[in-house]
Amino acid sequence: MLSQEENELLTRVGPGTPMGELLRRYWYPIAATSELIERPTKGVKILGEELVLYRDKQGRPGLIGSQCAHRRMSMLLGIPEKEGLRCAYHGWLYDRNGKCLEQPYEQAEDPNSNFKEHIRMPAYPVQELGGLIFAYLGAEPVPLLPRWDLFVRDRVLRDIGAAVIPCNWLQIMENSLDPVHVEWLHQHFYNYVQERLGHSDFKGNPVSHKKINFRVFEYGIIKNRMLEGESEDNEDWQVGHPVLFPNILLSGSTSRPTFQIRVPVDDTHTLHFWYTCYARSEVKEPQEVIPFYHVPVPGYDKTGEPQWSLLDNDSGEDMMAWITQGGIADRGMEKLGLSDKGIILYRRLLREQLEKIQAGQDPMNVFRDPAKNVYIKLRLEDSKLNRGSFRPGPRRQGGATKYSPILDQEEQARK
Ligand code: FES
Ligand SMILES: [Fe+2]
Repeated sequence: MLSQEENELLTRVGPGTPMGELLRRYWYPIAATSELIERPTKGVKILGEELVLYRDKQGRPGLIGSQCAHRRMSMLLGIPEKEGLRCAYHGWLYDRNGKCLEQPYEQAEDPNSNFKEHIRMPAYPVQELGGLIFAYLGAEPVPLLPRWDLFVRDRVLRDIGAAVIPCNWLQIMENSLDPVHVEWLHQHFYNYVQERLGHSDFKGNPVSHKKINFRVFEYGIIKNRMLEGESEDNEDWQVGHPVLFPNILLSGSTSRPTFQIRVPVDDTHTLHFWYTCYARSEVKEPQEVIPFYHVPVPGYDKTGEPQWSLLDNDSGEDMMAWITQGGIADRGMEKLGLSDKGIILYRRLLREQLEKIQAGQDPMNVFRDPAKNVYIKLRLEDSKLNRGSFRPGPRRQGGATKYSPILDQEEQARK
């Protein structure tokens, strides 16, 4: 249980809040590269700030304030040019640093005008890696964009799913420190969902947890879980799976690992990416375009009935749990038990990293040495839960990969 004050401290992400300051020390994916192919601008909200992502005519991505500095028309309708983005209303042109380069009428009437020198739009650095576009909104010097394992791995196909989830980022992260929910939400409740859908034949036999353990490691927290029939000698128990501080879970299986990346949009919304690699030994070159897909967010229909068909997979079930905890879960009302020790450890880690930045130090996972950022390798257990052997239902219902375009293509090819 947390006091109201502690809950506020850990959940508020806007500019000037302590957690907002800590979270600004990291790079965040804000779009898939492929999202800017059809349309060169995308509205983005991150850490409470409204921005517009665009690609200029030289192919460079840029990220600037969403409203024009002149009279506030949306830059989402801006026209991409060689040097930046031009506002549709009166043609003011901004570069990637937010500098105003042209004000056509001002310069026509007064060629000596230096008005544009006084204009500045918010603008942030962006970089691309592994088919994602990342932004950094924090203090300088700008750290390196971490080259986490799946972003740079060879011999894989990839796809990227995304959804905006109407709840605070922290309850999503806390779910990643909570192995016991897998037994209940993704097995017992899954069976109930299949029953509701009239698919009793898809029901599985739940596997229970015997023991859970958590330890802080170089990049975050490793979770270990022991299932019935397993022991401490079991390799899965020793390897576990990592939560990368502050916002990435490595999930899935060794042959189909997924990064679940949680990007705080504002206090009550989170942009969630499912970044999956499908191991394919025959793949020599990375895909030219990594397919992007939207993951539907479950809720209730008009009659108040849960959307059962969206709840037959881990991601749908997880989202329903996160959303129904409330916009910001009231941790003053919670009752933590033995199943929640990972959550308690993660909250402690957050507080420790807050203290670090307050002491003027870099928090965990801020990389500045390129030699340590070539390929940040991670290990993942190969638990029977990850392999989805629990589910006798359709192969696709593992998680967000239910909606995967790569699996669609492979299914088509087999027909
Ligand atoms: S509002 Fe953008 S140029 Fe006038
Ligand atoms: Fe889950």
